Formats: sequence, C-alpha cells, structure tokens
Amino acid sequence: MEELEQEKEGVRLQKYIASCGIAARRKAEEMIVAGRVTVNGQTVRELGTKVFPEDRVTVDGISIKPVATKYYIMLNKPAGYITSSEDERGRATVMDLVKDEIPVRLHSVGRLDYDTEGLLFLTNDGDFTYRLTHPRHEVKKKYLVIIRGDITITALCALRRGVKIGDYTTAPAEADLVDVAAKGYSSIEVTIHEGKNRQVRRMFEALGYEISYLKRLSVGNVTLGNLKVGKWRHLTSHEINCLKGM
Ligand code: URA
Repeated sequence: MEELEQEKEGVRLQKYIASCGIAARRKAEEMIVAGRVTVNGQTVRELGTKVFPEDRVTVDGISIKPVATKYYIMLNKPAGYITSSEDERGRATVMDLVKDEIPVRLHSVGRLDYDTEGLLFLTNDGDFTYRLTHPRHEVKKKYLVIIRGDITITALCALRRGVKIGDYTTAPAEADLVDVAAKGYSSIEVTIHEGKNRQVRRMFEALGYEISYLKRLSVGNVTLGNLKVGKWRHLTSHEINCLKGM
C-alpha cells in the first residue's frame, strides 16, 4: 500500500537516500545541501524534491537504489576503533569488524568515541537510524563510567539535575553509584537521552572528573548482555521491533 502511494506521489529525496542504506535522513539532508546528490543527471539541493521509481539518483557520482535486505547488527565496539566507514588517518574503523561477513554497506546508529567501548548498532536502514537518533524520541542510553577515586553525592546530584557543558545544560540524567573505589576507582551507571558530542565525558569533566573507562551498556531496552568485546551479532526480530517502536 505504502509502495503504491509512493509510486503515485513520489518520495522525498532524503527519505529515498535513507532507504538506500547510505545514511540516516539527517545525514542525507546534509549530502543534498552539499550538492553531492543528482537526480536524472541534475544536481539537486532542494530538500523536499520528490523522487519516483523510474528516477536515477546518484550520491558522489554513484548510482543508488533502495535496499531489499535490511541488516540490523549489534556490535560490542572495542576502544581504539573509530565510528565511521573510513578514516583519513588510516585508523581501524568499526566497519572493519563486520565487513568480511556482511555483503552490503552499513552505517552506524549514532557514534561512540574512539576510546569508548560497548553497544553500537550498524544497519543499512536509514529510517531505523532516524528513529533512534532523533532528539524528539529521547531514546535512553545507559553507560558504565569508571573514574579514579570517589564521586561525591553532590556530583551525583548534579548529574541528576543537569550539568552545564559549554553553553548547553544537559537534561536530568539517571546516575547511580554501583561500586566504590575498588583499587581506587569508582563505577557509576549513567543514563541519558540526549546525544551531544562526547556528552558523558564532558558532563564528568564539568564536575572535575576524568573518565578512565566508558562503556555503553544499553540503548532503549536492548542491552549488550554477554557479547564479547569486538564481537557482533544480528539483532533478533523482537529487539528490532522494540527499537522501531521507540
Ligand atoms: N558520551 C561520550 O562522552 N562518549 C561516547 O562515546 C558516548 C557518549
């Protein structure tokens, strides 16, 4: 039914690009505005442009088509990998961990810093990425944070109230001390629903702490479980449906 409607009325260019698995809708919008997209040989910078099944669309000169098989992968990202499909400095990327077994181009759902470990989704479904990363949906992400020394109650309360990072004040986070100063370190679980760049590290920096170890444990109600660092698996259909409903 939806496909029939699209044939009649066309589909917005950024949605079309997302359905090709190249990028999520917001990234697709940036590509269009940057003049990287053509429709039937013409560069198109207009975001609302409608595309029809017979149209030929390219990104960076390469023809794209909507993908038939959708992939949804959960990776336990190791530290020392960048969240990108390529790196101009030649560093290892998260795609290196899956590319031998996945026959299509994937993108990451959001990103984790080079030094951060943990749960990262990879997919070729741009709409899935859009749902999970758009700030409006306030999807919760839980992190394990390890710092040297003790954390004060005042700092925990500050995390729960919101912390000023640069000119932005974070929304109230959930913050719980889970282990005190084993060998001089403390572990805290922090849950946020925003996705500012290096947000958790900057929240702790603002309170005077440097994070020694950071790992993402869950996104929505999907958790990393006992997936080993550097390993990946396909999400179950139950997990995909839960995440699509966020
Ligand atoms: N917050 C950070 O500071 N880093 C990450 O990788 C994810 C969230």
